[in-house]
Amino acid sequence: MSKTQTVRVDRLLANMGYGSRREVQHLVHSGAVTLDGDAIEDADDRIAVTGDLSERMRIDGEPLDPPPGLILMLNKPLGVTCSHKEAGPLVYGLLPPRWRRRDPAISTIGRLDKETSGLLLMTDDGSLLHRIISPRNHVTKRYHVTLDRPLRGDEGDVFASGTLMLDNEDKPLLPVSMEVLSPTSAYVTLTEGRYHQVRRMFAAVGNHVVALHRDRMGALSLPDNLEPGAFRILTKAEIALILPER
Ligand code: URA
Repeated sequence: MSKTQTVRVDRLLANMGYGSRREVQHLVHSGAVTLDGDAIEDADDRIAVTGDLSERMRIDGEPLDPPPGLILMLNKPLGVTCSHKEAGPLVYGLLPPRWRRRDPAISTIGRLDKETSGLLLMTDDGSLLHRIISPRNHVTKRYHVTLDRPLRGDEGDVFASGTLMLDNEDKPLLPVSMEVLSPTSAYVTLTEGRYHQVRRMFAAVGNHVVALHRDRMGALSLPDNLEPGAFRILTKAEIALILPER
């Protein structure tokens, strides 16, 4: 029989960024933390961390943030960096400030360049992160590419060949599929995630990427109604679209 993990209320809330252990103990004693409508009296009560906790628990009348084990998709805008520490705007700055104090921390699942937009997944679940980025699981990533110059015609074959060697690398790229949309735009779908891979692939065939946007991972597409800079938590069904075998 599988046991649901339980955790002390003060530890859960402190780890979710609601304050220090002492601050959340005060919060509980003030009656601000309720479960199924009743105030929790003891901060050292243990509760089960289940997926429905945000619907059952309120803090000052507001639903609890998503409990640990979350995965979200962000429509990454241009000009923000996938890093915890670089200068300038960071993707973490697009999350609510309290979420940036969580332990375990929320991290990006892979990275997009500062000047790449689109579908970026983030999670606090380390094992899920590794399953998605592991080359063994072959999660596909689709990019819409806009080019500086018209395609010359052989790029699809070169990318699909499995023999294209990028500068300063010692292993050829795994095959990449390409769908031409216009003389200067295409979709490319890859399973690897090498540094600046798409830009370097087109540089290798004498072109230059002027805009790059990721719109799909596995069978999960970035929804049209998710504005640049906005994010939302994924449902179980959406997670299954990324890793169908889960
Ligand atoms: N390839 C790139 O060149 N940049 C990205 O951000 C993603 C893939």
